[in-house]
Amino acid sequence: MRLSQAFFTLLGIGFSKDLDSGQPQQPHGTLDHKSIAIVGAGTAGLAALKSLLDLPIEVRSGWEIILYEQRRGVGGVWLPDPNTPNPPHLPETPLYPGLRTNTPHPTMTYPNFPFPPGTPLIASHKDVLAYHESYAAHYNLTVHIRLNHTVLRTSWEGDASAGRWKVRVRRRGGEVVEREFDHLIDASGHNHYPRVPHWEGLDGWLQGGGQDGQNKREALHSIYYRDPNVYANRTVVIVGDGASGRDVALQVAPVARKTYHSINPNSTLPVAPPAIRKPRITRFNSSAVIFDDGTATFSADTLLLGTGYEVRVPFLSDGGALRTFPLSVNTSSVDGLTSNSYYIRPLYALSVPITSSLPPNALYFIGLPVHASNCASTTAQSIFAAHTIANSSLLPSRDEMLAGVLEREARLRQKGFNPLKTGHRFGDLAGRMESKDYEDELVAWLRARGARVRVGEPGRRDDGAFNEPWRRQSWSDLGLIVAGWKRVEKAGEAQVREWLDGVETEEEWADMMRRLAEWERKKQAEEGAALSPELSQVRPGEEDWWLETLY
Ligand SMILES: Cc1cc2nc3c(=O)[nH]c(=O)nc-3n(C[C@H](O)[C@H](O)[C@H](O)COP(=O)(O)OP(=O)(O)OC[C@H]3O[C@@H](n4cnc5c(N)ncnc54)[C@H](O)[C@@H]3O)c2cc1C
Ligand SMILES: *[C@@H]1O[C@H](CO)[C@@H](O)[C@H](O)[C@H]1NC(C)=O
Ligand SMILES: *[C@@H]1O[C@H](CO)[C@@H](O)[C@H](O)[C@H]1NC(C)=O
Ligand SMILES: *[C@@H]1O[C@H](CO)[C@@H](O)[C@H](O)[C@H]1NC(C)=O
Ligand SMILES: *[C@@H]1O[C@H](CO)[C@@H](O)[C@H](O)[C@H]1NC(C)=O
Ligand SMILES: *[C@@H]1O[C@H](CO)[C@@H](O)[C@H](O)[C@H]1NC(C)=O
Ligand SMILES: *[C@@H]1O[C@H](CO)[C@@H](O)[C@H](O)[C@H]1NC(C)=O
Ligand SMILES: *[C@@H]1O[C@H](CO)[C@@H](O)[C@H](O)[C@H]1NC(C)=O
Repeated sequence: MRLSQAFFTLLGIGFSKDLDSGQPQQPHGTLDHKSIAIVGAGTAGLAALKSLLDLPIEVRSGWEIILYEQRRGVGGVWLPDPNTPNPPHLPETPLYPGLRTNTPHPTMTYPNFPFPPGTPLIASHKDVLAYHESYAAHYNLTVHIRLNHTVLRTSWEGDASAGRWKVRVRRRGGEVVEREFDHLIDASGHNHYPRVPHWEGLDGWLQGGGQDGQNKREALHSIYYRDPNVYANRTVVIVGDGASGRDVALQVAPVARKTYHSINPNSTLPVAPPAIRKPRITRFNSSAVIFDDGTATFSADTLLLGTGYEVRVPFLSDGGALRTFPLSVNTSSVDGLTSNSYYIRPLYALSVPITSSLPPNALYFIGLPVHASNCASTTAQSIFAAHTIANSSLLPSRDEMLAGVLEREARLRQKGFNPLKTGHRFGDLAGRMESKDYEDELVAWLRARGARVRVGEPGRRDDGAFNEPWRRQSWSDLGLIVAGWKRVEKAGEAQVREWLDGVETEEEWADMMRRLAEWERKKQAEEGAALSPELSQVRPGEEDWWLETLY
């Protein structure tokens, strides 16, 4: 196979140089007795576990692979929290009863593992949980999973060429134990720590409520949002243009007394009726919420913040492997593995830390990219992790990896983005297909270096691109497919059944999405409508004042 120069440059995961020119790495972990810890049994952790088990048996025999999950089951954000949490206690998940996917489920699948027949294209959170549970059961992942086990702290005992992770784990209601592992995979998720902007006057505004028959005022992050009816008699300001802000607005606006939706003034997306569109909040005083355009609302009593999440990995920070800094520090100029709560760097291929204190394959991050399809993206990353854990010589030299990171950051800066804010995002640099190119590159990179990579079911996808053409097609038609499905649902149950009838295999789901996109395109052309807008995106220069992420 001949690889073009351009092919491996998009994400800085590779170079135009001869593929064999990388300095051989000092192998870390003997092949025969490796131990690997994965943290988290959400989409990312299950992908990591499956990909390790997919390595040829002669490669992985004798390996010990353990996945620690702090909760009672697999599924991550898709597993409901049995409690109704209140601040300052963090919920186990942001999931709310009315949550449905904002992406059609066939675009969200692991390779060769479609959702069951009859699943509505815009699936309920229950369908997504059941999907993850059946994936774990089908591939016999469960024996490797330790539920109710919280990883408290991971510290590297060693240097750049050898060592082990000391992993401190607490079992629910039980003892704390310390175990050693050769490799560590972080799949702990990034929708768990609310990002709450600071506004002048907010505290005074909160205290100013509750008089003269007014409701007591409150400000809640969307991670706490559960039931729209709670807001029936309230006047709500929803902040944020991401998926959470928009979905909460869709649910709350019809039932609240009054709803304001504070969004990016440049956004082309409509606000959910009957919500009133507002620009960003400037500040508060004791009686009003004051917006950028100088308008104010005196009646608001509830602030719902769809302002996204902080990227944090407490067990790595506590153990010293990941140093965290405030945003005011330019982490591009700091040595070692850092996070500024938006961006972990430097990570080769958004996954492999490049630091002089760890062997190159000692630690992996799975699931950091935003604006990617969850199962496919984490699977491609996990395949990359599994093969480079098996053979660290597959990885380029540290210098080459670092050059790749700097190159990508420079390209983002050139386009007007601040990589320290948007470095984990796709869709900003080269459009929607960037995440698909990235996934394909990860797998092609391994194959080009002779790794025997298997994707999906045995024998089915042993070569060719990681993403089948239908995955790319449906990813680029996402807006049409979602709009089409909403139109079908509006038309009634009979139409829904008609579209779902006889659709079972991956190919049939792909074909159905293709037909739906075509149908919707025609409908929109008949109506003379502009093509459906996609999810809101951050444009150059906007990330510094607008904080929300996709969720
Ligand atoms: C409200 C909401 C809606 C979303 N809707 C969509 C959608 O429609 N489509 C889509 O593609 N994506 C959606 N997403 C994104 C979603 O996060 C991804 O789809 C994906 O499920 C994330 O998987 P993950 O494994 O990376 O993280 P998580 O699902 O967060 O899983 C991480 C797991 O790690 C565990 N863990 C964390 N720390 C520790 C520790 N120290 N010790 C042990 N275990 C630990 C957690 O308990 C959790 O189970 C949505 C996200 C949110 C918040
Ligand atoms: C995990 O904890 C929950 C809640 O305490 C309990 O119901 C469940 O049985 C535990 N599961 C395992 C596998 O230990
Ligand atoms: C799971 O384990 C069962 C019992 O050992 C076995 O029959 C089955 O083939 C396994 N499934 C997969 C997908 O490996
Ligand atoms: C809203 O107010 C009405 C009338 O005062 C009352 O009947 C209803 O119970 C209130 N609803 C909520 C959710 O508080
Ligand atoms: C919104 O767009 C206008 C014109 O395109 C631009 O002048 C303005 O700076 C943008 N606003 C923000 C906050 O980026
Ligand atoms: C708060 O700001 C609004 C809008 O500028 C103003 O009308 C109002 O008088 C202010 N209230 C207080 C108590 O300062
Ligand atoms: C941070 O540092 C990098 C590298 O030194 C530099 O290129 C970049 O402009 C700096 N960014 C900011 C926001 O100061
Ligand atoms: C590891 O990868 C290197 C580089 O591609 C290759 O030369 C070597 O044969 C591989 N080793 C094994 C055991 O597969």
